[in-house]
Amino acid sequence: MRIGLSFDLKTAITERHAVEDAFEEYDSPETVAIITAALESAGHQIVRLGGGAQLLDNIRREKVDIVFNIAEGRGNYRSREAQVPSVLEMLDIPYTGSDPQCLAIGLDKPVTKKLVAAEGVSTPKWLLIMDEQELRLTNWEGFPFPVIIKPAYEGSSKGIRLTSLAYNVSEAEEEVSRILADYRQPVMVEEFIDGDEVTVGVIGNAPARVLGIMRVLPKKKTEHFVYSLEVKRDYVNLVDYECPAGLARDVLDKLEDSSLKAFRALGCRDFSRIDYRISRDGMPYFIEINPLPGLGSYSDLVIMATMLGWTHAGLIQAVLDAALTRYPQCVGV
Ligand SMILES: Nc1ncnc2c1ncn2[C@@H]1O[C@H](COP(=O)(O)OP(=O)(O)OP(=O)(O)O)[C@@H](O)[C@H]1O
Ligand SMILES: [Mg+2]
Repeated sequence: MRIGLSFDLKTAITERHAVEDAFEEYDSPETVAIITAALESAGHQIVRLGGGAQLLDNIRREKVDIVFNIAEGRGNYRSREAQVPSVLEMLDIPYTGSDPQCLAIGLDKPVTKKLVAAEGVSTPKWLLIMDEQELRLTNWEGFPFPVIIKPAYEGSSKGIRLTSLAYNVSEAEEEVSRILADYRQPVMVEEFIDGDEVTVGVIGNAPARVLGIMRVLPKKKTEHFVYSLEVKRDYVNLVDYECPAGLARDVLDKLEDSSLKAFRALGCRDFSRIDYRISRDGMPYFIEINPLPGLGSYSDLVIMATMLGWTHAGLIQAVLDAALTRYPQCVGV
């Protein structure tokens, strides 16, 4: 097959940003190279489409059978991950992964939490603060502290630092103000669940299945562990990964059940990764879903798959195969 690869290289982004982690979600040349190699090793011809305006030019010129999409989209819009799939749908070109509606919802943490909560999945209490005026009017009475404060529409732990935890109202107000100003978007204040950090991979369609459950353990005992930007950047020195996760059977069952419910509630396709914290009494709390999880060598889904005996190329092929079950017309071309 002739497969287009859509991606957003960090170096292709020319906008100026106030924050140092603005490019955190974008791809490295190494990620593009290993996905290209994985698809080529299965005998496909790869056309690098890139992202943004470059993708618009390339997609009209190049004839491809399907697009393997890892493009995060441009700007800080909450629907940015939907940009490339929307263009591909407009041109009726098949592509891997979830559709624009799912991707737009998945990046909006508060909307996602409402949808999964409606399916009976537990998620920590939260407040959404749209701007400084709402911050001044916020009624904090009865809200459980400590809280974690995060941008409402981000990924890759952008904006989530060691300073994101607040133990009282004045600390919370200060951090909310910082995120409002730096990330130019609403801020979520969420009850902090102090317990195991777990991420769940889901793969396939009709039926989707759990690929694995991985626990992320800090190497050094800390009072309140946060899988923050600092930790993700220095994961080799700061955390250990455990997969399969050494959790009680009933906790694993709840994680599987919640993950498949969340996948279905958002209408995810082909693959996703879902993050949880487990409270001390063994209750998994849904934190967020990544319908377009990273596929670079050091991303959580790839680490998980590798620990379960997959190769990187095998994972990429499984995502493509899942997409092809939706596009039988592409098979064998
Ligand atoms: N309510 C919470 N309770 C405890 N820890 C939390 C909570 N919310 C976030 N965290 C911590 O912060 C980390 C990052 O949060 P979250 O997963 O929401 O951000 P993200 O940027 O979307 O992540 P990703 O890199 O997976 O896209 C979590 O993995 C967890 O360690
Ligand atoms: Mg996360």
